[in-house]
Amino acid sequence: MENGIDKSRIPKHVAVIMDGNGRWAKQKGKSRIFGHRNGVKAVRDTIETAAEMGVKFVTLYAFSTENWSRPKDEVSGLMELLVFTINKEIKTLMENEIALQAIGDLKSLPKVCYRELMKAIEKTSKNKRMTLVLALSYSSKWEIMNAVKSLAKEIENKKINPDDITEEIFEQHLCTSSIPDPELLIRTSGEHRISNFLLWQIAYSELYFTEKLWPDFRKEDFKLAIADYQKRERRFGKTSEQLSNVMQ
Ligand code: IPE
Ligand code: IPE
Ligand code: MG
Repeated sequence: MENGIDKSRIPKHVAVIMDGNGRWAKQKGKSRIFGHRNGVKAVRDTIETAAEMGVKFVTLYAFSTENWSRPKDEVSGLMELLVFTINKEIKTLMENEIALQAIGDLKSLPKVCYRELMKAIEKTSKNKRMTLVLALSYSSKWEIMNAVKSLAKEIENKKINPDDITEEIFEQHLCTSSIPDPELLIRTSGEHRISNFLLWQIAYSELYFTEKLWPDFRKEDFKLAIADYQKRERRFGKTSEQLSNVMQ
């Protein structure tokens, strides 16, 4: 036990809906993009703390499919920030042995973003300490529809029988096929919704909501979320008694 955190029960995968940049900026009378820029520090703090604790995967919801309908200036500002941040942080990712991955409709990103993202993924691919997954132009319904289409094609080509489709096979067609399901999902900014994020994968995740706006989210806040997670009893449909009695 250290700071109320049990080191033997650290979640393997933590997913985060980073929300509240716009409201944070508004409170300060600044533009929304100012809020996004100030969210980078929270990203850094989250990744550092997770790596120090021994978390193996962190998935950050950075841009949803629905976010394409925001004002043009905000979208282009976010894309620029993405390229700038990836370039700036790649050294830190290498030093800390963190591999970068991305999920979403990556082909819909501006060419320069896509190129820089692929370069960083390639460069960090051998890093083993932790994997950082960026959800970009991502939405869960989009991902599930893609999986359905790809399975339908396999049926058409007689590669698989409909009756042979299992949960495991379906999961192989999701963007997250190589990533375990998150044990913990954090959302900042006081909103209590999922906003089309990892719907399949969070079937049994613990959900943690905090009022903190994303640019204010610090190491301590991440630790609070982990400590809260460790207080929960994950029953997976069983009874509490079954869990405490290993003989049952
Ligand atoms: C989250 O902050 C960042 C993205 C969705 C890209 P928001 O921009 O949604 O901030 P609020 O919710 O308007 O405060
Ligand atoms: C969810 O935040 C998407 C990201 C954090 C990238 P939004 O701010 O877009 O979600 P809604 O619209 O409030 O549900
Ligand atoms: Mg928001």
